[in-house]
Amino acid sequence: MNTPIYNFLQNYSERDVLRLHMPGHKGKLFCHPLSTVFPYDITEIKGADSLYEAEGIINESEKNAAKLFGTVRTLYSTQGSTLCIQTMLALAAKPGSQVIAPRNAHKAFINSCILLDLDVVWIFPEGRNNGIVSFSYSAEDVEKAIASSKNPSCVYITSPDYYGRMADVSAISAVCKKYSIPLLVDNAHGAHLKFLEKSLHPMDLGADMCCDSAHKTLPVLTGGAYLHIKNEKFAADAKDKMALFASTSPSYLTLCSLDLCNEYLETSAKEQLLDVTLRISRLKGLLVGKYEILETEPLHFSLSGIPIGIDGYALSERLRFCGIEPEYFDDFYTVLLFSPLNSKPEFEKILNVLSEINPKNEKIKNEGFFIPRPEKVLSPRQAALCESEEVPLEKSLGRICSLAKVKCPPGIPIVAPGERIDASCMNILKKYSISTMNVVK
Ligand SMILES: Cc1ncc(COP(=O)(O)O)c(C=O)c1O
Repeated sequence: MNTPIYNFLQNYSERDVLRLHMPGHKGKLFCHPLSTVFPYDITEIKGADSLYEAEGIINESEKNAAKLFGTVRTLYSTQGSTLCIQTMLALAAKPGSQVIAPRNAHKAFINSCILLDLDVVWIFPEGRNNGIVSFSYSAEDVEKAIASSKNPSCVYITSPDYYGRMADVSAISAVCKKYSIPLLVDNAHGAHLKFLEKSLHPMDLGADMCCDSAHKTLPVLTGGAYLHIKNEKFAADAKDKMALFASTSPSYLTLCSLDLCNEYLETSAKEQLLDVTLRISRLKGLLVGKYEILETEPLHFSLSGIPIGIDGYALSERLRFCGIEPEYFDDFYTVLLFSPLNSKPEFEKILNVLSEINPKNEKIKNEGFFIPRPEKVLSPRQAALCESEEVPLEKSLGRICSLAKVKCPPGIPIVAPGERIDASCMNILKKYSISTMNVVK
């Protein structure tokens, strides 16, 4: 597969051109480890195309990506899945309409609802839950939410979630088709799913659009993401809608890494993924029993040491002490996120460290909690655009939340803008170390 963006940048960086254009570093950064990449960081000069009016090398590279993912159209983003989420909601949902979403949505979704004036019909978990990141819901739950809402414009789900657990995308897609409602999937954690032995990518399971943070699980620079589109109607408008929210200075380094990733996906990704996913499942097989291991998509290894008396914080500290930095941890789980680039010795190191951790005698009692269902008073946009103030958490009881205050990761709000902060919210906000809230004045 050709790499038109990389080829252009390489050629340009090798020519002795006096750069009387942006950026200000002029392709140079003396005596610094980053100096070799600066010549590739350019702006929209002649021949370099333009991301939101792409007709040249960027268009060609995006078409290569669309071919690899089997989509009608794939757009590049240098502003992560966040920009793709804004774009797909702008394409599928009219201002003032309702969107159906399970409550474990990332704040990028809530913020998009503020920008686009969308109301959310939330799907909450039944019963107690181990944290806010993940819960099980079925296609029937989605159907019930459709029935209880006013002419919803789309269904928006997160799969895989931050633990790597997947929703039943095919069954949810069948429900959406029954009601002729588009299904949008936040697949930020699943760009690689297309390249497994059997694709588990949302676009192959019935999604109409989805975002992939290529940078999370593929060899792409931070910010590099895809917006995949199945439907010609959405495809036609997609660039213009994306441009509404995007910077006019997309990073050519990130674009170049997306371009190079096409070649990688065509040539070596499948083989490397197969190898790495086999190693991960072998690792899980050797550690199951000692640890509780979540059923996830193949690159996530989400484990809990609760059965051996070690919570997520202590387990993560132990890993860090041994030179392993996890992606995420909470009370229960520690998330180890692999990519096709992890090597055999790295697996041996993880196995050694996790095998050598000694069980503690004390049992940990943690029954989880009910995810709060606060009263909805204003729409997210009304609340976010009101005059607001930041107050200490204890002073926020009874007030209306104006901003999705969350820690990243996992970036999942406990209270959404427009909701009244009640006692159950306070407890969970405290638990997630949130000490102040932004509230409507
Ligand atoms: C589930 C989920 N969706 C969306 C995003 C936003 O992705 P990005 O950082 O690529 O903009 C994240 C970021 O962590 C995420 O975890």
